[in-house]
Amino acid sequence: MSDNALTVDQIDISSREFWGRPWAERDAAFATLRRERPIAFFDEPVIEAIPPGPGYWAITRHADIIEISRNPEVFSSAAGAVSILDLPQEMSEFFGSFISMDDPRHAHLRKIVSGTFTPRMLDKILADVERVAIDIVAGVAGKGEIDLVTEVASPFPLLVICDMMGIPESQQQMVLEQSNIILSGADPEFIPEGTDPVAAFLGAGALLEGLLNELAANRRAEPTDDLLSALVNTDVDGERLTQQELASFFILLAVAGNETTRTATSHGVAHLGANPDQRAIWMADVDGVTPTAVEEIVRYASPVVWMRRTLTRDHVVSGHQFHEGDKVLLFYGSANRDDAVFADPDRFDVRRDPNPHVGFGGPGPHFCLGAHLARRELGLIFREMFRQLPDLELAGPPDQLHSSFINGIKHLPVRFTPTT
Ligand code: HEM
Repeated sequence: MSDNALTVDQIDISSREFWGRPWAERDAAFATLRRERPIAFFDEPVIEAIPPGPGYWAITRHADIIEISRNPEVFSSAAGAVSILDLPQEMSEFFGSFISMDDPRHAHLRKIVSGTFTPRMLDKILADVERVAIDIVAGVAGKGEIDLVTEVASPFPLLVICDMMGIPESQQQMVLEQSNIILSGADPEFIPEGTDPVAAFLGAGALLEGLLNELAANRRAEPTDDLLSALVNTDVDGERLTQQELASFFILLAVAGNETTRTATSHGVAHLGANPDQRAIWMADVDGVTPTAVEEIVRYASPVVWMRRTLTRDHVVSGHQFHEGDKVLLFYGSANRDDAVFADPDRFDVRRDPNPHVGFGGPGPHFCLGAHLARRELGLIFREMFRQLPDLELAGPPDQLHSSFINGIKHLPVRFTPTT
């Protein structure tokens, strides 16, 4: 045990201080919870001006997360999947869209976009994703030293999703800034000191909604072949999306698609930098190793720290009696280091197979809609980095995002021989 290791009673994952600790200490705390208190109760985080709720149960073992994800009738998403606090329902649905709904409404809305995210449909846009990856890496290749996060990992998924949605280039920076605010978990770099995080959050939502309404009006008048046109003009079971549903959709896709893939890319580069043997294995057989390497990056990075469920009735899991109304948080990164499932879980192994990680969520109706897209994005961006920047190495430590929800990296200095 290192000097900084916490005992099970010292662990407080609701404190801001906990999420500012180095990754190794956070991982060690979750290992302690898995071993000694796998279903652990915590008071809710204290947020000024909002009365604290009743607390929540942290689910840290892989088997329990699988069981809960498979049982959405008991473990509901409708009270909010992405907030610990009970937000007013309109706010929860606005920022979460169908991620914070149960079937049948969830299935109805998911169906509107799900066709666009199947492997067959993605084949059609593969050339566009590939072009974005080539251009982004080519754009930095002459520099020699860059911040990998701001110059590669964040613009890449943003440009892909903006391309799919048909967002004009001139608006893409704004979408990036506002989605950063919504997912920042109040990190001061994104929400300046003295600014009320709730106001910043709502302001970001309003700006994105404004952009969407403007673009939607254009698409209604002149349909094109982008995703937004499909959403605006779609008719599922005889119903059109309302303006508010449309805005929520857009926010969900823009937000869910950006920060997650960015985080996976940044962690991937950091872990390859720290494990040159793994980098060499992947570079020696890029196409052959990519499928397992991409899954290992998502397991190891676990970009989404947790999702929430709320009990619709009394129910027992692993001998623990839950009660109706209890909140549970599914800690995916913890499940992804569970040694009951993963041999040598702290080892980053680009050929790990099988790799039944829950980085995209557990099995069930909410399993990540963008998983196929994310896998392709990751495969392509690493291929381009290997091809165009073959000697890329870390030039400093990763700068950790202070958030309990996204396991982010804010900055990652890297260097390579510049091309002329
Ligand atoms: C490495 C990248 C990504 C990771 C780690 C990730 C992770 C997740 C997780 C953990 C969930 C929640 C599952 C649950 O509540 O059970 C989720 C849901 C979702 N993700 Fe992703 N995601 C990634 C990329 C993407 C991309 C690229 C998109 C779209 C462009 C996307 C769109 C969505 C949507 C729409 C949902 C809600 C699904 C539903 O409730 O039915 N994700 N993702």
